[in-house]
Amino acid sequence: MSNSSTGTKQNQRSTQHIVLLPGDGIGPEVINSARQVLQACAQKYNVTLTFTEAAIGGAAYDRCGHPLPQATVDQCCAADAVLMGAVGGPAWDKLERQLRPESALLGIRQAMGVYCNLRPAILYPQLGAASPLRSDVAAKGMDLLICRELTGGIYFGDRGRETIKLPDGQTVESAWDTERYNTLEIERIARWAFKSAQARRRHLTLVDKANVLESSRLWRETVTNLASDYPEVQVDFLYVDNAAMQLLRRPYDFDVILTSNMFGDILSDEAAEISGSIGLLPSASLGKADRPGLYEPIHGSAPDIAGQGKANPLATILSAAMLLRYSLNLPQAAAAVETACQAVLSAGYRSEDLQVVGSSQPVMKVGTQGMTDAVLSYLK
Ligand code: IPM
Ligand code: MG
Repeated sequence: MSNSSTGTKQNQRSTQHIVLLPGDGIGPEVINSARQVLQACAQKYNVTLTFTEAAIGGAAYDRCGHPLPQATVDQCCAADAVLMGAVGGPAWDKLERQLRPESALLGIRQAMGVYCNLRPAILYPQLGAASPLRSDVAAKGMDLLICRELTGGIYFGDRGRETIKLPDGQTVESAWDTERYNTLEIERIARWAFKSAQARRRHLTLVDKANVLESSRLWRETVTNLASDYPEVQVDFLYVDNAAMQLLRRPYDFDVILTSNMFGDILSDEAAEISGSIGLLPSASLGKADRPGLYEPIHGSAPDIAGQGKANPLATILSAAMLLRYSLNLPQAAAAVETACQAVLSAGYRSEDLQVVGSSQPVMKVGTQGMTDAVLSYLK
């Protein structure tokens, strides 16, 4: 790898190159935590990891006038895997759309071709009290996987603005965004969802708005046609408004949720909240098998607590676990990190986002590094 800056190459070990995109707000802090965990795994599982940091988001805009410099795209595409923190913040909110940090996020997803966004959401029993759900519902837990289409739909469709004249002669401003999908885009993400369901509880729910949207009807047709290739997977369909409701009533019933870019964005925040904190949920964005994956926590840059050492690093550490599993083919290391994160929660370690009023459990309040140290100690 051309851009490796740290780490030593040893012949008997395989060397994997990871690009880190710290980004804005709490991004650099949580990336620092995940890097420590990855380094610990490298030692334990006998791989050599090299790391390069590249600029993205507001930080990149401040440094070179663009939130997604070409150099960053090139480095990411040449890596074995990419781990991102978060982008965005009030300092860049007034910039025009293409220069906003969020554009960089969409841009890197598109440039890396990572159309499949896997967002597992688990309500750990240790955190039942942190979930906003009624205790009898929370007690039944939740363990679902959202397969969100990530490089198509309304996020990338034709859009524009126009001043138009109404029939009564009034002049008004109008704007449009377009939801458009083709069968190939639907099929490739649907196959991921079916395969994921095969390896889980064999239940797939397609979430759409087929009672209104033509694009949703194409999703239903395509998924129905594919279902015969996966006869052991039970398929059902839910309108997105109903799905939002059922997630609150019976989250334990969902296994794999397959959905479009925008619906997946919305439902994954809902699932995160059910799990107790948005600071817990990781994600993997994957494309063709031989291409690098992009891993990121689903939370944002939390500018209000940036730089204070308070951020919960678990979502980023769990994203690193997904990186170990999907890009580095180290499933044992991935499972060890996941087990360590659960153990830390069971032991009562709580960052600020997880502190539950009136919790009966004894808790240890920790900051970002305290939580990281706890994970590292359980990994050993
Ligand atoms: C996410 C985020 C992004 C998205 C934003 C920041 C563009 O909300 O990853 O869920 O909408 O995809
Ligand atoms: Mg989102």
